[in-house]
Amino acid sequence: MSMEQMQKLKKKLPEWLETSRLRTGQGDVAAYIPELAKASRDTLGIHIADSQGQTVSAGDCGLPFTMQSISKVFTLILALMDHGEEAVFYNVGKEPTGDDFNSMIKLELVEPGIPFNPLINAGAITVSSLIAGDSPEEKSERILQFFRKLAGNDRLDYNMDVYHSELETGDLNRSLAYFLKQNGVLKDPVEDVLSVYFRHCSIEVDCSDLSRMALVLAFDGVDPQSGEKLIPRRYIQIAKTFMVTCGMYNASGEFAIDVGLPAKSGVSGGIMALVPGQYGIGVVGPSLNSKGNSIAGVHLLERLSKEFDWSLF
Ligand code: DON
Repeated sequence: MSMEQMQKLKKKLPEWLETSRLRTGQGDVAAYIPELAKASRDTLGIHIADSQGQTVSAGDCGLPFTMQSISKVFTLILALMDHGEEAVFYNVGKEPTGDDFNSMIKLELVEPGIPFNPLINAGAITVSSLIAGDSPEEKSERILQFFRKLAGNDRLDYNMDVYHSELETGDLNRSLAYFLKQNGVLKDPVEDVLSVYFRHCSIEVDCSDLSRMALVLAFDGVDPQSGEKLIPRRYIQIAKTFMVTCGMYNASGEFAIDVGLPAKSGVSGGIMALVPGQYGIGVVGPSLNSKGNSIAGVHLLERLSKEFDWSLF
């Protein structure tokens, strides 16, 4: 982090965060997974990390929350590392949908009935089935270990209350999975695939964990502190492209215009964003806008991007 930016961030971030926090009243927490409805609407936190180990944070940055859809970026990378590009993109497409993240409409309308991209639910469920391992338990364990390594945190674990809550109420995901199974996209039993999918969505992090994971993406797959190569550069390129085109669901175009950074959101209110070659950013703000993105989190990222001219475009 340049000294100048760091000083400005340290001085201004708490004030900018409080300004964004005023937006939380205009959104609502996700309720379709009952356990997520317990989150507090006015929560907002952020943590920013750079490659030299400097960090700056503000607000409720220590609050634990589940990764939800943010996990899909890293399961995609793991599936690519397990099987390569050709095999993964035989089963899942590369295009945005313009539909809600849990929609099944295009699966039926557009041949050959594979999910449009790996970040919508149908695509991420397909990716879960592609993770190497002889059993759902083994696949889940490989995902958890990979996430721990990227976050540099051996204590990352599942929030089992959220996992069970989704397992009990996830019938829309179940119907997507049965449709995919019928089309031959899923090979394993539906409940096995869903248990892997729901588990990785329920991995619990805080803003600092998320910023560390983002930092590895920002530095092309290399852990900037240890110098260890964790992910091939090509797969980082693919992941960052999906984050720009589909990471904020069907608000990805608007986010690209207003913020201009690769980012991924989740229904728990988390957003992971990165400034390539510079910063990893973790945000949490459970009050969501109508597109399912953290309303105050997006506002804060827009402010930061404009203040520091971070947009890639
Ligand atoms: O499958 C689901 O619905 C959740 N586990 C994840 C969805 C999600 O985070 C979508 N985000 N905006």
